[in-house]
Amino acid sequence: MYYIGIDLGTSAVKLLLVDQNGSIANSVTKEYPLSFPRPGWSEQSPLDWWNAVVNGVRELVAPFDANDVKAIGCGGQMHGLVALDSNDNVIRPAILWNDGRTDKEVDYLNNEIGKDVLSMRTANIAFAGFTAPKLLWMQRNEPENFAKIAKIMLPKDYVNYRLTGVHSCDYSDASGMLLLDVAHKCWSKEMLALCGIRESQMPKLFESYGVTGTLLPESAKALGLSPAVKVVAGAGDNAAAAVGTGTVRDGACNISLGTSGTIFIASDKFGVDPYNALHSFDHANGRFHLMGCILSAASCNKWFCDEILQTKDYAGEQVGITDEKLGSNRVFFLPYLMGERSPINDTNARGTFTGLSMDTTRQDMLQAVLEGVAFAVRDCFEVAKALNIPIASSKLCGGGAKSPLWRKIVANVLNIRLEIPEAEEGPGFGGAMLAMVGDGAYPSVEACADALVRTAKVVEPDPDIAARYEAQYQKYRRLYPALKDTFAALR
Ligand code: XUL
Repeated sequence: MYYIGIDLGTSAVKLLLVDQNGSIANSVTKEYPLSFPRPGWSEQSPLDWWNAVVNGVRELVAPFDANDVKAIGCGGQMHGLVALDSNDNVIRPAILWNDGRTDKEVDYLNNEIGKDVLSMRTANIAFAGFTAPKLLWMQRNEPENFAKIAKIMLPKDYVNYRLTGVHSCDYSDASGMLLLDVAHKCWSKEMLALCGIRESQMPKLFESYGVTGTLLPESAKALGLSPAVKVVAGAGDNAAAAVGTGTVRDGACNISLGTSGTIFIASDKFGVDPYNALHSFDHANGRFHLMGCILSAASCNKWFCDEILQTKDYAGEQVGITDEKLGSNRVFFLPYLMGERSPINDTNARGTFTGLSMDTTRQDMLQAVLEGVAFAVRDCFEVAKALNIPIASSKLCGGGAKSPLWRKIVANVLNIRLEIPEAEEGPGFGGAMLAMVGDGAYPSVEACADALVRTAKVVEPDPDIAARYEAQYQKYRRLYPALKDTFAALR
């Protein structure tokens, strides 16, 4: 029996065919374009997602007996606004999680409505990428589009809708809309009213492992699968990645270095960071989590290699960055290429290199990029520490986790042990696991994780390198406060 896990990412959809013992039988990646129509804006076409899923699934299952596929689960990029009209056609390109156009709306929500009110209603405050500020933006800037809205969805929910015809959403992903009462797992009537949305325009809520339906006949045909295949509600990509790395028990931590970087702390009990620097969301196992998100992580390395160094040889660029160099770089990089979410919540923030001199090499700059991302993750980690959440070790997943050098940098900057799971494809593997639970192959997400998640590698911090990085981090953390006003002036 096979299960399909879909990771609907920002640069591509990654599809996995997994058996019920957790062995990955096949994987396929299909890229799609990302557009930045104005500085700080970020959009994608939901139809591109769907076409990539259709082509990808066909390729994924082609070498196998399609009748062995039992269920599908999707982990998707969070917060994106997909708006459908009354015929379920997409009204405009989706506005993505890393889009920074909503600073006025965020200011209105956080400062006029008030952070306390938002936090009481939703357990969170407004960040530019969240869905509610995007609705306000659309209402103010595209009233004709706003008037056409019949349904609002998140990115993976659009794919699930095309698969089943059901407008569904799961609690983990819904948490990032700023429209869900996270503690009570229902839409916040006050927040919907504030955004000019009726509850009938919202999708139906499910647990992530809940079966929302089976494949529509036309979708089954397009995908080359049986119409009996079940579809579960799935999860936001971070909650799906947490499932995929086995981060499902109270206090367990997962760090993801994907396009974004996140630190995800699973929790059995609902709790809110009093300063709301960490998001307080529902988890895909039916419980809760806290999360810090930096907007640019592996994307910084991709940008620096692709655009600046003009190379695709990411591993080659890292050769020669030896242990003695770790913690002694004189170049620092702020990774705010798309502004920043956690913990500074500043859409004006931008990337910078600091400390360049005539003897700076391309390798120093590349190292600074990898280190800057690790320091930004540490900023989120510090918030968790200040809340007395003990984190002695973490799982690590995402594209960045493939680099042995980057893993070592992160382990030493945070001074914790990192465990790299066998299946690095966190959200896709987690999506397949949720499908297994929905299909009844395992009684719970925890039981599925206990049976399937295996650690491939462990990275321990080195006391000397960690001490050097501690001193470096103290220098790094002075940069943003020194530049904050300049970033605002440069806008
Ligand atoms: C999380 C977030 C990102 C996206 C990336 O809050 O915005 O991690 O989910 O796909």
